[in-house]
Amino acid sequence: MYRSILRAIEQQEQIQDVEHYLQSLKPYVINLRRGFRNSLIRVDYSDFKVQAAYLLAYYPLYSEVTYRVLMDLAEPIHQAFAQKKRLQACFLGGGPTPEAVALSTYLKQSGSQVNSLTAYAFDIAATTWSKSQEVSKYLVSKANSEIQFSLQGHPLNLCQKNVFSTYRDIIQTTDLFVIQNCLNEFVNTPQVFIENIDFLIQEMSESSILIIADLNFEIVKRLMGQVECHFRTVSRLEVIRSNASGYSCLHSRLPLLKVLTDNLLTGEEDLIPKKKVNFNYLAIQKMPIAVQFEYASIPF
Ligand SMILES: C[S@@+](CC[C@H](N)C(=O)[O-])C[C@H]1O[C@@H](n2cnc3c(N)ncnc32)[C@H](O)[C@@H]1O
Repeated sequence: MYRSILRAIEQQEQIQDVEHYLQSLKPYVINLRRGFRNSLIRVDYSDFKVQAAYLLAYYPLYSEVTYRVLMDLAEPIHQAFAQKKRLQACFLGGGPTPEAVALSTYLKQSGSQVNSLTAYAFDIAATTWSKSQEVSKYLVSKANSEIQFSLQGHPLNLCQKNVFSTYRDIIQTTDLFVIQNCLNEFVNTPQVFIENIDFLIQEMSESSILIIADLNFEIVKRLMGQVECHFRTVSRLEVIRSNASGYSCLHSRLPLLKVLTDNLLTGEEDLIPKKKVNFNYLAIQKMPIAVQFEYASIPF
């Protein structure tokens, strides 16, 4: 994956000297590391170099997180998507959408019949992330050449009320929703976030699945717990994986590139390649409307 990401960045930025370019990303990776260490800091991704740093230092690992979650949920996902040839997914706070690469890889590995994947990234900085989403499209084509893939970004602030009302059609036809690695953005406005998610779960279609996955930070765990409590009050929702089940530790299996470890992720302070992540997740599925039997009308 690192080779493909680097190739896509080289093409996007028309880079002549890749070693020099990677070295120039060092301060950007260091800033991201410092920003993410303080889970309340908001990162500005508008400079593509910040995105390139994210793509090389975080994207592969976070793609593995989504993949691992999908594998964990393989049984309900298989049942929900088994007959489908076309799949639609929404990535909320998806940014550069590592979730898309994970999903397309999962579809290939699981031998699914899906031949078309339509993805939507709802993100406060969806327009800013557009170049990185092009990188994602390239990576999806590498990961699974058998599916037709389209990806549309929509700017949307999950801290604002009623943000989904204009997207009802997309929500109603979506099979899989993923909210990954962005819960820290909503800890100051938990009620608005929960109201937005409530709209989504009311509108989502039968059998569709919503996954909320995040790092194992205390404030994030608290919000995930609040969201799960809300889910448990809503009829027709089944919690298929509780956040109370505990976190998992993922050790990356992706091989790093020498050019990357020589020039960017060199092992110096804040430039150590991230190979391990603790994450937790919550997953729900929309259930069919329960059929009410009129016992008096059963003819025996
Ligand atoms: C750490 S990135 C995670 C990206 C991707 N989901 C992943 O797993 O790599 C956090 C994302 O949340 C988005 N974000 C931040 N605040 C947001 C908000 N209020 N509403 C929607 N998206 C937001 C950012 O633009 C960014 O793309």
